Amino acid sequence: MSHTLSPKIALIGFMGSGKSTVGRLLAERIGYRFLDLDEIIESEAEKPVREIFAAYGEEEFRRLETEALYSLTGRNKLVIATGGGAPTRKENRAFFQKESFTIYLEVSFKEFLKRTGEDEARPLLKLPRKELWSLYEKRLSVYRALGRLIKTCGKSPENITEEIISLFGAGC
Ligand code: S3P
Repeated sequence: MSHTLSPKIALIGFMGSGKSTVGRLLAERIGYRFLDLDEIIESEAEKPVREIFAAYGEEEFRRLETEALYSLTGRNKLVIATGGGAPTRKENRAFFQKESFTIYLEVSFKEFLKRTGEDEARPLLKLPRKELWSLYEKRLSVYRALGRLIKTCGKSPENITEEIISLFGAGC
């Protein structure tokens, strides 16, 4: 099924799924502006995500994330890379359902581990492997319910971008 190009395209998915890399490429291809939700939060808070978690806790980070997300309401021609936890908060779901055409980039747990390593910028990577796995499992159904599924396994960011563009038909 093809869709007309939506004014906002949001990319959701677990950490390391390639939302920012693909988002940048996609925005460039379709002439949209690229925005990274974590970067909006960081610039508003004047602190990196890691420090927001450390200083105020995850709940406050989630509040800022919701605020940043809805600050984009009404804006057009945007490709938005969202943080892996954004779709899990109930308040945010209406955004992904009504405000944007939402694409879920699915990455396997193994690939996620390989791509993210021990990246200090991502505070959740400090969780034990077992907890990360249950977070991953729990989020899968949320992502799948909110976004058009694109499997990323074995595909380059360029291939994934083409696949997304093909969803919108030949017009873009
Ligand atoms: C998070 C993912 C991160 C960032 C924060 C929390 C999560 O973004 O928003 O560290 O809950 O999965 P990326 O998905 O871009 O790594």
